[in-house]
Amino acid sequence: MESKGDKVQVHVNPQGHASCEIQKGVRCGVIIPGASGDLTFRKLIPSLYNLYAAGRLPEEFFVLGYARTKMDDNAFRIMAEDSVRKSEKAVIETRLKDFIQRCFYVPGGYEDKAALLNLKKRANELAAKFNTGGNLIVHMATPPDLFGKITKCLSEAGLLMKTADENPFIRVMYEKPFGRDIQSAKALNSELLNYLSENQIYRIDHYLGKETVQNILVFRFANMIFEPVWNSEYVDHIQITFAEDIGVEHRAGYYEKYGALRDVFQNHMLQLAALIGMEHPAGFDADSVRGEKIKFLKSIAPFDEGGIKDNVVMGQYAAGNNMTGYRQEQGVSPDSCVETFFALKMFVDNKRWQGVPFYIRAGKRLKRKASHIAVVFKKIPTCMFCKEHQGNTMSPNILIFGIQPEQGVNLTFQAKIPGSKMCLAPLEMKFNYNDLFGGRTSDDYETLILDCMRGDRILFWTKEGVELSWQLLQPVLQKWEACGMGEKQSLIKMYQAGAWGPKEADMLIEKDGRKWIIKE
Ligand code: BG6
Repeated sequence: MESKGDKVQVHVNPQGHASCEIQKGVRCGVIIPGASGDLTFRKLIPSLYNLYAAGRLPEEFFVLGYARTKMDDNAFRIMAEDSVRKSEKAVIETRLKDFIQRCFYVPGGYEDKAALLNLKKRANELAAKFNTGGNLIVHMATPPDLFGKITKCLSEAGLLMKTADENPFIRVMYEKPFGRDIQSAKALNSELLNYLSENQIYRIDHYLGKETVQNILVFRFANMIFEPVWNSEYVDHIQITFAEDIGVEHRAGYYEKYGALRDVFQNHMLQLAALIGMEHPAGFDADSVRGEKIKFLKSIAPFDEGGIKDNVVMGQYAAGNNMTGYRQEQGVSPDSCVETFFALKMFVDNKRWQGVPFYIRAGKRLKRKASHIAVVFKKIPTCMFCKEHQGNTMSPNILIFGIQPEQGVNLTFQAKIPGSKMCLAPLEMKFNYNDLFGGRTSDDYETLILDCMRGDRILFWTKEGVELSWQLLQPVLQKWEACGMGEKQSLIKMYQAGAWGPKEADMLIEKDGRKWIIKE
């Protein structure tokens, strides 16, 4: 198979390709508390449909929604079908019909005992009807501050129970953010462990389900040529950018409580940093991979008082480019100091990364959607081509992992421009998932739901991992929360909606003689 890209020809060995094992789900029921909300129809139902349509779910399977909104099976099915049609260009009508027949709904509050008993009765009937063998997944699609309470209520209603063996299995998937700081994360962990054992808890970071994110470990550890240069001797610095063009949308209630650091740094950003920086795991299994990530998180140098001042920039979008500012968004306080952007520099205190800064920035209402990681190598130490290069220093090799919307890997390198003179220019070698594999790749939620069904925990967080990442962020949160309103107003740097963040974020990296990569 050849890429359509004109820069590189990539050949995929068809046998190697075909021998990939197609992972299938296991018979089970899926209960969704919070089923009338956005996550259910934007992500969960379309992902479950896609898995079902592709034959990756068994016929012994059902979905049972639960939420306060009063509706019956039929109304839920109409919304479910609508959400599938909206998210998928080409539905397979017969599969959609069969899938929708497997969707059910029970209305009720989380402390409504009668409704919870009704939910349990319905779940048991459906388990018998669809022969799921009692296997159950609960996917929490509620606001995160309800996780503890709902787990308790479902447990008291007899829907959840601690199981040491997994026969049948009962697993619960929790969205991020898991807690709001170190204390609440620890409290939530210990509360859940009253009702479930650790191996029943699946803490989601949907970034880990993305193909491009999973590719990082393969790229690093299934190839011989990168690992020898993956260290402070060759790498100058690392950049992680998570830029979104959207604003806070309809999530002001949540965002006002969390802000960008809690929303994406504690989870997505630290996970990406761990995948780029961790050591070689002993094997491709949950304990080995997650254990190495934990070692990496432990090696990140803590943010101390001085470090926060010099190394962390918080920003908020103001009106610009025909877009409203954060403080004018519906549901946002008019003097809110919640950060919609941050940029920071951190160091990893181990032998591999000694002295190599990791610059991380993330924000909403930036110029365009772009998530990527750039590994910027050191400049060539010799000056053999200086004259040809008219005294300019040559740009270094840069390896970019495009997470989204560009999905792939780019390597920039110096090459000779054809002609009689020796002229050099940086060129790019590109690998792009769409060009090479075409069609649709597995969606992050499809991957995570399927992994949960199969009991594969590699892509889910451990209790320790979650707590360590909050621990790391804690000094920054504390410092920020200790500031009075006036101080916060002066510390938060405003940027125009549609720009690349505040100028202070540029200064953060430029004062070290470096630049953010891909600005336009
Ligand atoms: C979520 C954040 O985890 O990730 C959102 O809560 C953000 O604020 C979203 O918009 C981005 O996800 P994706 O997959 O669209 O990059």
